[in-house]
Amino acid sequence: MRLSMGSVGFVKKEAAKSLAPGKKQAVVIAVAAQKGGVGKTTTTVTLGAALARYFEMEVLLVDLDAQAHVNLALRSIVNAGGDSLAELLEEPTTREVAEIAVGTKVPGLEITPGCPELARAENRLSTRIGKELVLRELLSVSRTHYDIILLDCPPNLGNLTINGLVAADCVLVPCNPAMLAVSGVEGLLGAVAEVRAALNPSLEVLGLVLTRVDQRNGATNQMITQLLSENWEDLLAPVQISADAALAKAQIEGTDVYAFDAHSRAAGQYVELAEWTIARLSAMGLRREGATTDTGDQRPELMASEG
Ligand SMILES: Nc1ncnc2c1ncn2[C@@H]1O[C@H](COP(=O)(O)OP(=O)(O)O)[C@@H](O)[C@H]1O
Ligand SMILES: [Mg+2]
Repeated sequence: MRLSMGSVGFVKKEAAKSLAPGKKQAVVIAVAAQKGGVGKTTTTVTLGAALARYFEMEVLLVDLDAQAHVNLALRSIVNAGGDSLAELLEEPTTREVAEIAVGTKVPGLEITPGCPELARAENRLSTRIGKELVLRELLSVSRTHYDIILLDCPPNLGNLTINGLVAADCVLVPCNPAMLAVSGVEGLLGAVAEVRAALNPSLEVLGLVLTRVDQRNGATNQMITQLLSENWEDLLAPVQISADAALAKAQIEGTDVYAFDAHSRAAGQYVELAEWTIARLSAMGLRREGATTDTGDQRPELMASEG
């Protein structure tokens, strides 16, 4: 979407990227929902940790929310350093998202630093030419360094979320069993359809995942599950995430739930969600050659979470 004058010499040619290409081809998954508090950040962090820990994947979490909750949730295990994602989004640059990412104590898990300036970037993006395509461009070489890139989107359909949807191969939509959360699913899927029509024809819906399911509310859960499956049966993930205080406690400690309590119920369910994600990406033809699926002996004995 650059002005074509560049190619005929009026404008300086686009400079080469500063990041050398790697050998991988990440699947980019936007974790998005119009509502706050439905489990986007918890899902991004825990699914990412599960993929890195038990499926030997190289995972990058991109925190697109100015509230910086990904960073907050993992603050005790994140290495220092990294630059501002907002700066990359605001001005043309040859730098890439992978260049500002920092490692964590979990091998294979990297994240972008918390960036409150994203609130400013949300507005400044409006003035950029090709404003919806900026993140996609910033990930173009970064993708070759990871197996999975998860984008934690803010709780609205603003510029950053749209950038996330344009940069992504597919969207994972967390939803908790409450009517208001369900009503948000429709809005989000509408935005996905619009983005697909206008900007990213290959965008797919990975699935809807019910989170924070309190087993004590059996009747409500059943009504919500029925409502969701009536409308989006094919998209509803078979794995549900229970309401589990271990997730919130791990966030308070600033670490992932596997370091906090790998035997907790939600820890096991997120491993199952990771397994389902990998299978679904393969079924959708999104998983590239050479990616590992072998959980080997790494997998913890955390499946005792049934029932
Ligand atoms: N499965 C769960 N069980 C218990 N608490 C949860 C669960 N998922 C999320 N939470 C808590 O709910 C709150 C909102 O979740 P969060 O992932 O931050 O939502 P979002 O990113 O959509 O705003 C957080 O305080 C988080 O700790
Ligand atoms: Mg969040």
